[in-house]
Amino acid sequence: MSIHRLDGRDTTLLLLQRGSALPEIAWWGTRLPDGLSLEAAAGLRDRATRRNGLDEDHVEAVLMPTLGTATLRAPGLVASRGGTDWTADFTEVSVLDAPGRLRVVADDPVAALRLEIVLELPPDGDLLTMHSLLHNTGTTPLQVERLAAGVFLVPSEADELLVFDGRWGREFSERRISLASGSWASENRRGRSHDRFPGLILGHPGFDEDRGLVYGMHLGWSGNHRTGAERLEDGRILVTTGEWLHPGELVLEPGKAAHTPIAYAAVAPDGLSGLSQRFHEGIRRTVLDWPGGTMRPRPVTLNTWEGNYFSHDHDRLVAQATAAARIGIERFVLDDGWMAGRNDERAGLGDWRPDAAKYPRGLGPLIDAVTRLGLEFGLWVEPEMVNPDSELYRAHPDAVLHVAGRPLHTSRHQLILDLTRPEIAQIIFGQLAALLRAHPIAALKWDMNRDFVAAGDRDGSPATRRHLLATYALLARLREAFPAVEIESCASGGGRPDLGILRHTHRVWTSDCTDALERLAIQRGYSRFLPPELMGAHVAASPNHQTGRRHTLGFRAAVALFGHMGVELDPTTLATDEQDELAAWIALHKRLRPLLHAGLHQARPVQAGRSVRGVVAADGRHAVFLVAQEHTDPHRAPPLALPGLDRRFTYRLQAPPPQHLDVRLSASQRRLFEDGLIVPGALLASVGIALPELQPETALILEASHLD
Ligand code: DGJ
Repeated sequence: MSIHRLDGRDTTLLLLQRGSALPEIAWWGTRLPDGLSLEAAAGLRDRATRRNGLDEDHVEAVLMPTLGTATLRAPGLVASRGGTDWTADFTEVSVLDAPGRLRVVADDPVAALRLEIVLELPPDGDLLTMHSLLHNTGTTPLQVERLAAGVFLVPSEADELLVFDGRWGREFSERRISLASGSWASENRRGRSHDRFPGLILGHPGFDEDRGLVYGMHLGWSGNHRTGAERLEDGRILVTTGEWLHPGELVLEPGKAAHTPIAYAAVAPDGLSGLSQRFHEGIRRTVLDWPGGTMRPRPVTLNTWEGNYFSHDHDRLVAQATAAARIGIERFVLDDGWMAGRNDERAGLGDWRPDAAKYPRGLGPLIDAVTRLGLEFGLWVEPEMVNPDSELYRAHPDAVLHVAGRPLHTSRHQLILDLTRPEIAQIIFGQLAALLRAHPIAALKWDMNRDFVAAGDRDGSPATRRHLLATYALLARLREAFPAVEIESCASGGGRPDLGILRHTHRVWTSDCTDALERLAIQRGYSRFLPPELMGAHVAASPNHQTGRRHTLGFRAAVALFGHMGVELDPTTLATDEQDELAAWIALHKRLRPLLHAGLHQARPVQAGRSVRGVVAADGRHAVFLVAQEHTDPHRAPPLALPGLDRRFTYRLQAPPPQHLDVRLSASQRRLFEDGLIVPGALLASVGIALPELQPETALILEASHLD
């Protein structure tokens, strides 16, 4: 038996390999002592000796469960050759250790398969990654039905699941379920994930923002996926995550191999905030690929969609850009409606050139006006799609994903281009490249507005997976050709908010719902895994276009302040005092963004209808919190202890301008809005302070600064 381990800052992964079989996961959790003996490590594993089972010894928590071994767990690998070789048993296995990395190379000479599993954990981080590569070493094609990207083992007590579902406009909805016995699975089969974010959290019952041992997993993949959790006989829970494949979607010809996406995982002993911190830190370090290598301050953005929809008028847009520049906005993104014939959803997709009526001299005059105002220019595109009413479709009616003999399923009057065909991908690349070459475009908003239904290629084979790989390739090609251009991932809002697309993109349009109250819940779920600097968060009009709710500008701005802030309205419609107030909020965001976009996520559980979420600098010297009264409660909210502050420090606590509250304030509460309250960190972090009683659907921003 041999032992293989990876140690992160606070995490240990331990694999035990017996003979030449696939290793079993003996431990994944908080850091174990150095120099653990083999005997002690072996003692960690709760060997599952089944009575009334097979005579042979068996391992339940194997790194890749297969069919046909004694494991009998939900398989991570399911493949066959037209009904033969449907079992897999890797009997020739070696584990190669390198710093921060374990590579398992496993052969099954009977089924003619080679499997490689790579696990990585940086010594100074805690985000574990895992992915696999399957080779067909046989002489006939291999049909793969399932190939897990990640297999993770959590202890039996961690049976409370935090799952993410929801729908369009209500992404990242959180629900808790108990895995008392049996199994749970979430499958996404629509090619985007508003209702099935590819993430899962498990923890000891009662875990919360700042309490409990929690385990989180995420699949870095923007297509169909499946995540399952299954109780083993000894009570422990095995989680597998990977792509969800259509029949025949992944066929490996002899000698060929396929990669899984990357699965990401972290464990935190200190609740959900600690889990977020570990994910955010790992993502910042290993996933994001910023132009020039480092993130520059996230430009406050005006997005034109809700202020204009499809009606584009040069003078009105320039007036909006002028007002935007005056209030401190730094990037102007021209949303949908600019392309040929795009007066509604029925035409324009596929013809990536400006509409001659709206832009008789092209986009140049608008872009010049915007950039002369000192704003960057960004442009909305939806490159994977085509309207039947478009020149592209008329020229290439066969270039869409469908199954011959079946109806063409349109959605939002659009079809999905077959980007798996290089000549079609080339047409789209050519059109986008021409725009990017002709104009100083700093950013693209890359939208994708429909589900994949019966999405076959020219041969009728399922193409959802290959379409996504072709989309990733197109994004990579554009990034290589135009490395300064940033890209926002949008799919009718938050339908593609994952670490697969975020390897190529720099922002997520979190949701089409811009209602600040809804956003509190949406952004809460988002923050479990993804960092705030990528979270598109916009101040929209009141009443809100999606919900009809009215909110103060202060509430809308306070909620948007905690992401990559933007504005989603026509600023010329704001009264002068509202423009001034919005300018002050934007100035506050700019002052705080070095902290907001680099610090450590902190939160408190919702109590008496009040939620608390914030960011604390790594050295504990500076922090900012959003305290939001989401709804009324029979009880008044108790004094608030602020999470993450350093108990050794003394802080000045302030409610920075332009905040004002129309509620009664005590003398010390008034000081929050003046020169601040001086409070010892030990008191702030434990007893807390009594805050003004907030009205429902209002918020207070608190800034804590360490006193030298
Ligand atoms: C869906 C996006 O989420 C919106 O922000 C907007 O870009 C529309 N598409 C435009 O069609």
